Amino acid sequence: MLNKCLFPAAGYGTRFLPATKSMPKEMLPLVDKPLIQYGVEEAIEAGLTEIAMVTGRGKRAIEDHFDHNYELEHQIKGTSKMDFLEEIHGVMDQATFSYTRQLQMKGLGHAILTAETLIGDEPFAVVLADDLCLNEGDDGVLSQMKTLYEQFRCSIVAIEEVPKEETYKYGVIDGNPLRDDLYQVNKMVEKPAPEDAPSNLAIIGRYILTPDIFDIIRNTEPGKGGEIQLTDALMAQAKKGCVMAYKFKGKRFDCGSVPGFIEATNYCFDKFHKHKYE
Ligand code: G1P
Repeated sequence: MLNKCLFPAAGYGTRFLPATKSMPKEMLPLVDKPLIQYGVEEAIEAGLTEIAMVTGRGKRAIEDHFDHNYELEHQIKGTSKMDFLEEIHGVMDQATFSYTRQLQMKGLGHAILTAETLIGDEPFAVVLADDLCLNEGDDGVLSQMKTLYEQFRCSIVAIEEVPKEETYKYGVIDGNPLRDDLYQVNKMVEKPAPEDAPSNLAIIGRYILTPDIFDIIRNTEPGKGGEIQLTDALMAQAKKGCVMAYKFKGKRFDCGSVPGFIEATNYCFDKFHKHKYE
């Protein structure tokens, strides 16, 4: 059964300094909701209600966000301001949260291995909260991927076509098309230069991983940037024919970059908030 969703959230968020000097980048709000809450809501919508997070120093605000703030609640009890907490309280009621800390920043693969203690021997989803994925009024991206997992029972990565000159920002796959929106992966390269990229199909921050990934990561040498890369570990699974790449339905924003974050903010304001001010 697929019940768990992992959020690697130990990164520094240097692109948002000084805002992220003492505040986790995952807590930056898109209008009035922290980025990570969008990801958690997407997981819950897919029925993944056991939320696991890999945090690090300076990230306690994330844990506090998914907990009660009794002093605040006492102050605003009985007023209409309580309405503002309704959504987050719904999230807290529907999911459980567990945390572990990554002591050293050794890459995404290492962050995922750090979470083995929370995940155990089960398949699990991974959300990189920097990638905001919205598919309003329809199944979210994790939900779409869960359906595929139930069919194929192997690791799945979400992909999107990107301009070839941007491949250096992503893990890039190559594969045999099984349908219009699905590939069996036979090659994966982490952040290739455009001339070395096997395609323009870029991995977006949504994964479903089978638990053998932990042993594979343990045996994965540092790769691009001297970090232990999830993409390299997945390549070992792909060699056995057991990684699918799925072109998801929905809209994705790169909230790890300032322009992407602003674009997402404007989009969310227009879609979900503007009417309140008109
Ligand atoms: C990570 C992965 C990369 C993937 C990207 C998606 O990179 O290593 O393969 O394409 O997330 O956002 P990061 O953006 O954390 O450097």
